[in-house]
This record gives sequence, structure tokens and C-alpha cells, in this order.
Amino acid sequence: MNRYLMAAAIAAALTCSIAEPIHAQAAAAANNAAGVGGAVRGGVMAGRGGAAFRTLRGQNAVRGHAPDFLREWIADNAADQIVRRMTLSEKLNYIGGTGAWDIKPLDRFNLPQIYATDASLGVRLSSPAGVSYPAGQALASTWNTALARDFGASLGRDTRELGFQNVLGPGFNMYRTPYAGRAFEYMSGEDPYLGAALAPDIIDGIQQQGVWATLKHLVANDEEENRLKINVKVDERTLRELYLVPFESAVKIAKPANIMCSFNHINGDQACESAHVESDIVKKQWGYSGFIESDYNAIIDGKKAALAGTDIDMPQGIGMNEANLRPLVENGTIPQSVIDDKVHRIVKQLLLFGFTEGKTSTDNTQTADERLRSEGIAQKVAEEGIVLLKNADSNLPLSSRPLRIGVIGQRSVSAPPAGFGSANIDPYEYVNDIDGIRAAAPSGSTITYIDRMSLDPGLTPSVSGFTGAYSYAGNTVTRDDSLINLNWNQGASPFGGNFPDAAVWSGQIRPTVSGDHVFKIRADGAVRVQINGKEIINNGAGTVITPTIPPTLPVSGTISLKAGQVYDVSIQYERKPDYFSTLGGFQGVQFSWAQLVPTPDLASYDAVVVVGGLGSEYEGEGFDRPFKLPEAQDELIANIAAANPHTTVVMHAGGGVSMRPWVDKVASVLYAWYPGEMGGKALGNILFGAVNPSGKLPITIEKYESDNPTFANYPLPQNSLQSTDIDYSEGLLTGYRGFEAKGIVPEFAFGHGLSYSTFNYGNVRVTMGNIPFLDDRNIVGTVRFRITNTSKREGAEVAQVYVGENSPSVTRPKKELKGFVKVDLKPGESREVAVPLNARAFAWFDTSATAWRVDRGAYTVSVGAASDAIKGSDQVFLPRGQTLSVHDSLPIVMPDWARR
Ligand code: BGC
Repeated sequence: MNRYLMAAAIAAALTCSIAEPIHAQAAAAANNAAGVGGAVRGGVMAGRGGAAFRTLRGQNAVRGHAPDFLREWIADNAADQIVRRMTLSEKLNYIGGTGAWDIKPLDRFNLPQIYATDASLGVRLSSPAGVSYPAGQALASTWNTALARDFGASLGRDTRELGFQNVLGPGFNMYRTPYAGRAFEYMSGEDPYLGAALAPDIIDGIQQQGVWATLKHLVANDEEENRLKINVKVDERTLRELYLVPFESAVKIAKPANIMCSFNHINGDQACESAHVESDIVKKQWGYSGFIESDYNAIIDGKKAALAGTDIDMPQGIGMNEANLRPLVENGTIPQSVIDDKVHRIVKQLLLFGFTEGKTSTDNTQTADERLRSEGIAQKVAEEGIVLLKNADSNLPLSSRPLRIGVIGQRSVSAPPAGFGSANIDPYEYVNDIDGIRAAAPSGSTITYIDRMSLDPGLTPSVSGFTGAYSYAGNTVTRDDSLINLNWNQGASPFGGNFPDAAVWSGQIRPTVSGDHVFKIRADGAVRVQINGKEIINNGAGTVITPTIPPTLPVSGTISLKAGQVYDVSIQYERKPDYFSTLGGFQGVQFSWAQLVPTPDLASYDAVVVVGGLGSEYEGEGFDRPFKLPEAQDELIANIAAANPHTTVVMHAGGGVSMRPWVDKVASVLYAWYPGEMGGKALGNILFGAVNPSGKLPITIEKYESDNPTFANYPLPQNSLQSTDIDYSEGLLTGYRGFEAKGIVPEFAFGHGLSYSTFNYGNVRVTMGNIPFLDDRNIVGTVRFRITNTSKREGAEVAQVYVGENSPSVTRPKKELKGFVKVDLKPGESREVAVPLNARAFAWFDTSATAWRVDRGAYTVSVGAASDAIKGSDQVFLPRGQTLSVHDSLPIVMPDWARR
């Protein structure tokens, strides 16, 4: 393409007034350029004929299919013109948010307010909320970049249709420890390559809908422990090779309009005040031209953040505001150009997305059909994201004859479980697990909810209810409560709009079986429970565990009871302030009890499905999660499995949980993550075989938490507000890299996931070309192998390609994921597949050179069905060492769609 000619034409166009919309300028420029002897040839413009003109005038204004350099150049120039005319006061006010989620309007320059919404798993801030999608780990478990793009497009469409211009997601932090409270939001799993492969498609999917994506949280936001203060100590090589990689891929390939820097500190600097990360790496070395916004009130020092490279202080400029920054600009401490650059970056993104041209509707226009379309994507992600971890004797799929199925666990009858915090969507409609099972079961089947084995505050039996003595501001009221399932925000208080200060309930229960029973209480305060005078629950002071968005954590206890005997129950409650009722939180009291011993008829069911795990009660933003299952679930599941050999466990969680106490005893395990509002449909389809599972674990699940390679480097006890540092001294050896280095066998390995089909692998070979690598971004080798579906059922297999250097000169993991392919195969079908590798597949980060280095030497390229199920390998010898630039090299092979 004749760039000079094009540039001349553009330059002419840019003499237009800035009031003229960019798309008109661009179209004129392109017109002129094409008109001059038809000089625009080859590449995008000529190849698509008039397509570039059409898209320039279309939905996304200067986004769309015009060449990047043209769109960016025009927007840069227009943004410059606006910035030149702004006063210092206007600029300094522009770089602080509205106080909510939004970017301020500036009418004088036709800059509209930009409305943003949380978050990565659906549009939370509309009324009603948008579709609730499965957890990030579910998306990662699909290993499907095309589906990742569909998900991104769906989330982007929801965002636009529900009246926003910016969605505050997706999140691509790494799964480092099983404690990470926000693991459920994040889409990288434990592997940088997996995140790097999924992120660009999701972000481009969102942004092609004409809304901004916000890539978050930059960086090392891998735990919630003391989240505003915790300092992550991580060495540079580890940062580059693990934690930054998904961000790098997203920035270089998909160009997110916006990045959110995180709450944690990195090597001593608050993340939004880290010049090394924001300016040196992201903006200079990667060439990022969008803007960086702070996580909400993350900035401590406005001057430092401004100089480090944070462009806007959200939500309201507490650090970067006129009062703080004007004197510093006037005395030269902060160069004027630093402020100009921030405004420029934000304005440029408004221009690129056509937001200055009225593409900023705030109306909720989503139709029922549009919502259905999004639900379809949510269901597809759930179906491909559910991982079949174990399936002894082909227990699943369940038979197609009429069945008697027992379903246990309150999580099967509630709204689909989800994580707590800003990514929590309160689903407007949903299919829960039991309804999904009912819908998919063969006709004539009976599906029974075994409530006596389920901790369900909506059904908890008692001899004749409870008598509650409530007090508020010195007044006392007595009331009979049939159940203690009381939500103060939904009118349950006897004092109207005032919540009780305290309450005491007494009642009686009569168990129907002898043995262990579990009691659970969830309350926004201090609670104690006694059974016949014996205290089995006491949560101490009952105060919130973290200062920011505190969850309402339940407590439980067990006791052995006798069938037929009446027991006195006494509950004391004292409300404490600061609890949340939104984001998956709760203000009120919920009490339940259940038997851990099976009902006598449990063996007679054809199959039992136990739905367990965590949920917003136990994990989410602001606090770290348990690895051990709460509520005596281990004992419950083991007892059920002993009573019925056809027991399937459906696990809902945002990360790994301990399964050791029962996993050898149950027939099947489906790891269903948080499945979104269509989760029950997906589960039903998988249980009965309408959908063949194809998900693979994006994380390693350990047998014991102390097996995790980061265990020594997590400052237990959890959620301590005294922790100041987390030392990532395990370096590169997280997840399977660490398990392999230490020779520890996990419960379930990274990449593991079963299917109802069986697959054979064969003939693995690698062909290399182009050495030395002329272009960092090109394909330098191809791994070929054959996969055969050896079963009678159509199914999909995710084949994984790992690369390891045989005798590295520096410490390197034994092998690392560097490619994968998901193949659909008919019964008996056999296919030869090819997975491309680029130079980075062989590289490590050399901190002394600030460059990627590929060493001369021998490498093993292996192909597996999981990290611990290698099916074949080939040797590659690289005859020459080579250095790859931080600017040009890419963590993944550039996807075709991005080569425009
Ligand atoms: C979270 C962000 C979120 C923001 C706005 C913060 O607490 O960390 O992920 O986008 O709140 O709600």
C-alpha cells in the first residue's frame, strides 16, 4: 500500500474543522487517496473494495476495517486539536471520574459522558441486570477462542443494548493460589498462554460491538488478602513470563480502549503508581495507546499516579484532581505534557468509537429476543466449560430410560451460585440445576429434591417453628417465625424499616435419623447456636472481615443426634454495621440444619446428584476463599457415595476445592464452576448426554493445599489485615510448572477433562522453518499430529502442545503450554491437525537485555490430552540463539482476524 500517498490525503483531510466527525474526514481522505490514480492497492483497502468506506461511515465510526494506522492517526490528530484548546482546569477535571462508574462529559468539546458498567461476567448496573454469564474459569475451561469471541461479542452487545459504552472487564489475572477470592472472575486459569490466547478474542469481540472493553486488573491481582495494602514481591522475569503475558497479548493484538490498574502494590509501588509497569512496559515497550484507569480509589498518591502513567482516577479523582495537581503542574513537577497525554488518550478512544457522534445511547433497548441470544451464548459457555473430572464405569451420561433421581444440595434449587463482589450479577431469570435436570431427564423420570440432606433455610423443619424475641433501640417485640429465613431488606424486620439490633430465637427440632447433623447460620453480625445447651456455632464478635465490600460469611457446626428425640435449639444474634446487602451480600439471618447421614431410601435411587461447593457466601471480591469445603460437605458426600454407587458430584466454585475426602468414593465429578443463569440447562444436557462434555481444567487442583507450589508464600491465616507482603518467591513454578518441578501428583492436573467419547493420538512431529526468525510475529514451526475419535459418540477434544528446553542455561519449567486446538470429531473420525508455534514458544525473558531470548539447543515439543497425559512428542534443535524484542514479539501466533 502506498502509505505516503494515503498520508498526504489524510493530512489534507485533517485540515477540516474538528467539529466535523472523524468518519467523514477518514472517508474523504480514503476517497481522495483512492482517486489519485487508484493508488491504494493490496492490503485491506483494495482487497475489500469499498468496504473500508462503508465501515468508516458505519456503526463503529473509525473502528471497523480501516487500516489501523489511518484510524489511529486521524484520531490522534483530532484528539490533539481538542487537547490544545482545553484549559488546564478542564484537563485536570477530566482525568477524574464522575463519582460513579463514568467518564465526565465536556460539552464545550462535544465530549459526552461515557457510561460504564461492571463487569466481566455480565452487565450488573442495568435494571434488570443483563444476562449472567458463567465464571471466568468456566470460559477458560472451554479452550475455545471462537466461543471466547462469541462471549465477548455477546457481552459487548448487552453493554450497548442496555445503555452503556464501556464494560469494566474482562479480567485476566492468574490463578496462583487456591485462595484467590476473585479467581472466579478471571479468564486465564493458571497459564499465561491460555489467557493470552483467549483475551484478544474476548476483547475484540466486545469492542467490535462499539463499546470499550476494560482489561483488568494490571497486574498481580491474584489474591484479595488485605487487598488495598498488600505488596506483591515478584521478580521481573516472573512478571514478564507469567503475570503480564495475557495483558501483553490483549494489548498488542486487540488494543483494549482501557486498562484498569489494580488495588495491590507491586514491588513497593501501588499498582496505579507503578511507572515501571504502566509507562515503561505497557505504554512504551508494548506501544499501548489507550488509557489506564485506576481501580476504584486505588490511588494513594495522586502525583505519583499521574507521573507513573495512570490516566484517569476512578471513580472520582480523589488523588488526581485539580486541587492536588494544579500546583504541581504550575511549578513544573508534573510536566504539562503528562496531563495532555492523559486527556489525549481518553479523548482518542471516544473519537475512535464514534462516541463524539452520538453513539452513546443510555436507553435500555434490549429486546426479549436479544436477551435470548445472549442466554444462548451463556449456555454454550457453560456447556463447554463444565469439566468432567471423573466418570467411573461410564456412570454418565445417565440412561435414557425413566429414572428415579435424588438431588441433594440447596445450591441446586437456588439461583445458580456465583461469586461475590462487583462481578456478581443478580439474575433476572435463570435455570437452576434441579430445573435443568428435570427438563433434560427422560420422560417418566422422577426427580426428587432430598431436602433433609440439604441446608435449606427456606425449608428447614422444626417441631412448631421458632419464637423470636427481637430488640431495637431498647424496644422488644416477640414474634413466631415458622422459619428463620429473614432478610431485613425484604421486610422481615418486626420494626418496619429499622433493622433489629439483636434477637434471640428458641425452638425445637426432631431428627428422623441417628448420626451426624450439620447446622448453618448466615447473619450480618454475631451469632451463637446451642443444641440442648451445647454450643455448636459461635462466630465471636461477628464483625466484618474486611473493610471494603464485606461479605456475609456463614458459619456451621456439626453434632450427633438421635432419631425421634426432640432437641432444644437456641440462637442468639446481635447485628453489626457495615454489612452489604448487594453484590451477593446479605443483611438478615438464615438458619438451617440437615442430616449428614443418608435417608434410608437413598440406595434405591437410580442416581444421586449432589450439588455442592461455595458461592457468594464463601468467595468473591475483597476476601480470600477456603480450599476446604464448608458445611461438612466432605462428610455428606462421602456418606452419600457409600449409600449409592451412582453418585455424581456437581461442584460449583470459582477455583479449586479439596476433593480428597470423597473423590475416590463417588462415581462421577462434574466441575461446573459458577455456571451463569443458564447453568442448569447446561448441566441437564451434560448429565443426560445431549451435550458431550469437552471442558478441560485451566488450573491444577491439588490433593492437599500444602501441595500447591505457592503454599509457603501465602501469608496464612486468610484475610488477615496485618499482611503487608506476598512474596512470589516460587517464581515461575506456579501451577503445573511447580507440581512437575516438585514431583507432586495433583488430584486433577492442568488440562485434564474427560469426554463421553474416547480419543487416540498419534504421529506427533514438528517441522521448523525460518530459523533464525526473521519476524518475531511469524509462525516458525508447526506441530502436526493425528487425533482419532475411537468411540461411537461425536465429541470434541482439546489437544495441548507443550514446549520445554532440554538443557536450559537458566531455570525453566520442564514444559509450558504453547499451543492448543479443539477438534470436533464424528464417531470413528480421524483427523490430522496442525498447531503453529511462533518464536516466543521457545523464549524466556532476559532481564539483563530487556528482551526475550531463544537459546540455541534442543527442545521437546509434546502433545497431550492434559499436562499429565502426554501422548507423543518430537525433538527440535534450534541451531542459533536469537533475541526477540519486547515491542514486536507476541505471546501467541497472531490470529487471522488481527492481521488486518
Ligand atoms: C473492583 C473493580 C470494579 C470497580 C467498580 C472495584 O472494587 O475491583 O473490578 O470494576 O470496583 O465497581
